[in-house]
Amino acid sequence: MEPPSTDDAAGGAAPGQQSGTGRLPPVKLWFCADDELTPSLAGALAAHWLDEYERDVAGRFVFERDRRQYLVAHALLRRVLCLEVGLPEGELTIRRSSRGRPFLRRPPGGLPRGRHRLDFSLAHAGGYSLLGVVRRHRIGVDVESLDRGGRSIQTVARTFTAEEQAWVAAEAPGRRRDHRVLRLWTLKEAYTKARGLGLSLAFDSFSFTLAAHGVTGFRPPADDSAGRWQFMELEPVPDVLVAVAVRAGATAEPLVELHMGFPWDRAAPRLVALPRPPGTPAAAGPDGFR
Ligand SMILES: CC(C)(COP(=O)(O)OP(=O)(O)OC[C@H]1O[C@@H](n2cnc3c(N)ncnc32)[C@H](O)[C@@H]1OP(=O)(O)O)[C@@H](O)C(=O)NCCC(=O)NCCS
Repeated sequence: MEPPSTDDAAGGAAPGQQSGTGRLPPVKLWFCADDELTPSLAGALAAHWLDEYERDVAGRFVFERDRRQYLVAHALLRRVLCLEVGLPEGELTIRRSSRGRPFLRRPPGGLPRGRHRLDFSLAHAGGYSLLGVVRRHRIGVDVESLDRGGRSIQTVARTFTAEEQAWVAAEAPGRRRDHRVLRLWTLKEAYTKARGLGLSLAFDSFSFTLAAHGVTGFRPPADDSAGRWQFMELEPVPDVLVAVAVRAGATAEPLVELHMGFPWDRAAPRLVALPRPPGTPAAAGPDGFR
């Protein structure tokens, strides 16, 4: 079952249609290292901004670095949503579907900023947080670091399809093979998170075909169709892989705004173009795309 919408604001074009301004809403990404906030600052923001559930989760981490990463991720989430919808960080109500997908509850009077339904997806790993926000479409994001502190990632390849496993095995063991595993892993997580399914969707029930730079093929699970999905891979810092899945419609070509660091203000983002759905004629990828 799909998770509930984040914000069912009335009006606006259907997914994939042009808005009244003739521009599609951008896909906005925020990439933030834990180091952007000192532990004491992250703790102070969390004390003001996080809700009881988030504070409870934060209190249960065994390792301090994991707690810090969670606090930075959730401070980032609330700061960005505040800038996006115009409500103070501590007044945002975040609900979760039965499978854990978070969404923003729209207050009875509506959101002060932005007419259209808002969706977001959060990921945090390896000392980095990634947040994706989009209006009118559906988004899932994932981030993983190649440096996994000695933990093997080859075992996760066993969850892939036979063709994907063969593509992984065709690369020599070591970082290059790990890189292939993580490209597929982050794309699969981004897709399942966009759908709100998490790991309840078997990773061998859908597959990607990857070229050196970008996704060239996508076979969806039996209950979905490929044409609506657009995928992007980025490496915002070396050896940290990011994947984004957006369900926008085959005709939609939203831009991607990439924001680096913690958004204390409305700094201008870097603009990149989201690749067209796999299988449709591709434009040349701008700098930063895989
Ligand atoms: C969603 C899921 C796939 C999360 O994956 P993850 O790699 O652990 O964590 P990520 O950093 O990518 O994402 C976590 C965030 O996803 C979001 N999330 C949780 N459940 C979700 C769902 N069903 N749909 C969409 N998003 C979800 C939450 O915002 C969560 O962050 P929070 O708990 O701080 O609020 C989860 O279902 C899960 O069980 N993951 C385990 C994955 C695993 O073993 N990974 C090994 C990596 S090599």
